Amino acid sequence: MQVVRLTAPNDFAEWRGHARRLLAAGISPNQVDWRMLGDAGGLLDDVDAIALPPVDRPVGSVPRQFLDMAQQAICHADPARFSVLYKLLWALQSNNQMLGDATLDANSLLTKWTSAVRRDSHKMKAFVRFKSILDDSGLERYAAWFEPDHYTLEMTAPFFARRFDGMMWAIITPYRSAYWYGESLAFGPGGQKSDVPQDDAVEDDWKTYFASIFNPARLKVSMMKSEMPVKYWKNLPEAELIAPLIRNARQMESEMIERVASLPPSRHLRQQERLPEPLGTQEITTLADARTAVQDCRRCRLCEHATQAVFGEGPEHADVMFVGEQPGDQEDLAGKPFIGPAGQVLNKAVEKVGIDRSRVYVTNAVKHFKFEPRGKRRIHQSPDGGEVQACKFWLNLEQDLVRPKVIVALGATAATSLLGKTATISKLRGAPIALSNGTTLFVTNHPSYLLRIPDAEGKAREQAKFEADLILVRDAIDVLRTQH
Ligand code: URA
Repeated sequence: MQVVRLTAPNDFAEWRGHARRLLAAGISPNQVDWRMLGDAGGLLDDVDAIALPPVDRPVGSVPRQFLDMAQQAICHADPARFSVLYKLLWALQSNNQMLGDATLDANSLLTKWTSAVRRDSHKMKAFVRFKSILDDSGLERYAAWFEPDHYTLEMTAPFFARRFDGMMWAIITPYRSAYWYGESLAFGPGGQKSDVPQDDAVEDDWKTYFASIFNPARLKVSMMKSEMPVKYWKNLPEAELIAPLIRNARQMESEMIERVASLPPSRHLRQQERLPEPLGTQEITTLADARTAVQDCRRCRLCEHATQAVFGEGPEHADVMFVGEQPGDQEDLAGKPFIGPAGQVLNKAVEKVGIDRSRVYVTNAVKHFKFEPRGKRRIHQSPDGGEVQACKFWLNLEQDLVRPKVIVALGATAATSLLGKTATISKLRGAPIALSNGTTLFVTNHPSYLLRIPDAEGKAREQAKFEADLILVRDAIDVLRTQH
């Protein structure tokens, strides 16, 4: 039996170094006992590690996907992770395709572990709360205590370094601590909750902010989707506000229902959405103001990971407004909607059917890019109902300010947001729908749907249907223009 002792619970490079030497020496998975240095020993502690020869021949190459997933899976807390990863690596030497086989236990563990680790990292991003500390020289520093389920501090700390690059901060977890000194990240041993002070001014600011954005409906959704699991409440300063806020909100809700019942439908909606106002958006009367204010939006958590909010673009009083789902990777970086591949499909089709693109306003149901990091790539994720609902404030504002005659929902997310109920494209496309604010809505597929169709024939068929929907839009604009 070959005993391997690892010094860190999540160091992929260390594991890989050992795994390559074991492979090169032809040592099969069931001959290896993977342990952490300092693990309580058993009989096998008496077995000395065999000195393995250095790797003198190349080990077979493995798919990139395995390397990407293994780097995340190694951060999982399951003690079996090291041996399961080696089992997979071993099997990949004779069958490069075996990662696709979902029936293999090792594969399903790999998938389960990577998503648990990503979720854990996401939770750290969402639930870390810094407290301020004045050091001896009067400099302000920040510290946070967090208890991740897995070994995710190292993979998540760069996010905080980017986001809070102007502060000096520390995040302490039971197994490790991360420090940012303004220029570089450093890691040290773990700590205890008592290492971080309990009360401070930052916390008060945070509580005020939390009270101002509190929305009990969102809390219910978050709890159901376990985005804000009760487990994390104990370390969140705002948690102590939750019970009184819920009580208050119930009263506010019943007063609101009484007040809005007598209002016309569009005001009725607006009244509900304006409670509570996001900070700094009370006085928005122009698109330019809205474009500035949306950058401060904290109505949902998508703002925490996206580069910026991407607001709509186009003439101030465009006749037609196209609404997509959310900005993609390129849009997020550039701050402009529909400039990537889906935007090119849209532009081509719009021009082809004879709609003047320069008279079109384009925007999205959700203003921040939602994605999942995978290696260096950011993989699009659809926004959930809560995020769409939270962002409806901005879409309504755009409708009020632009006052288009025709709106085109590109895809189910946009249609659902605009209609306020779950929408199915196949049932709704092909006919105008009158909205309560007097606008005419058309529903069609999202252009990225066309990009994903693999076969040429299917693609051509869907492209034709897409263009046929746009011809209806063009004709409707023409008719409505003549009426005004
Ligand atoms: N997809 C969308 O829905 N909107 C964009 O802005 C880009 C891609």
